[in-house]
Amino acid sequence: MEVIITTDEEIGLRAARIVADVVRARGPRAVLGVATGSSPLTTYAELARMVAAGELDFSHASAFALDEYGGLGPDDPRSYAATIREEVTVPLGFDPERVHVPDGAAADLFVAAEEYDVAIREAGGVDVQLLGVGTNGHIGFNEPTSSLASRTRVKVLTEQTRLDNSRFFDHLDDVPTLCLTQGLGTIMEARSVVVLATGESKAEAIAGIVEGPVTAMCPGSILQWHPRTTVIVDEAAASRLRNVDYYRYVQQQLDRMRAERP
Ligand code: F6R
Repeated sequence: MEVIITTDEEIGLRAARIVADVVRARGPRAVLGVATGSSPLTTYAELARMVAAGELDFSHASAFALDEYGGLGPDDPRSYAATIREEVTVPLGFDPERVHVPDGAAADLFVAAEEYDVAIREAGGVDVQLLGVGTNGHIGFNEPTSSLASRTRVKVLTEQTRLDNSRFFDHLDDVPTLCLTQGLGTIMEARSVVVLATGESKAEAIAGIVEGPVTAMCPGSILQWHPRTTVIVDEAAASRLRNVDYYRYVQQQLDRMRAERP
């Protein structure tokens, strides 16, 4: 795992640069894995800037969201489908037909989950996956004790996650209890992964993901088995890491090597 510890402002710039490199290398039909929540917003803003400047083009690319609340359809402003439309589809210039979000309003959520998993595979898999991290170590909505090999499925949200996300709802009671989420096994099939986290509340989860044992109690720790994961965090989110000095040293070396590449 590559760990980049930087400022809040830099996080989005560095993540966007990684996404842009993958997209350019993959070509116009690149497949982007997108997260909702606060963590990727600065990355989307920088990608939108690149698109507006003509440096990047998503008009033939596809995107797959990680998850959706059970019971919320795309017309509900609190749905992840609505968030993705506002934060990703429109500002990054995606063709809406090529942006996919699990169908939280499906008559049968179990079938919708299976179909979503198949759709990702049929699109050729995700080239670069952006991930936020829950305070409990979740990625997507894979809550602690999720199977490390899980596929896209229906999950029950923990009270902690409902509380963390209640800021997007009028009342805690309005936060759905069910969701559809890509599984950990599904996420692991992405060809590269970028994990984003800021703030002290994420410090324990980041320590578990980067340095903890691989355990279903910290679902993001499965990424230690992923060959191309970059973790980009601010000082506060890095504050419980034990090997900080080593990560900074490695980053200096890598930044220099990349700058000097022919
Ligand atoms: C969102 C998602 C979640 C969030 C995580 C962090 O699609 O899958 O795992 O990434 O809960 O949320 P923020 O970034 O709002 O702190």
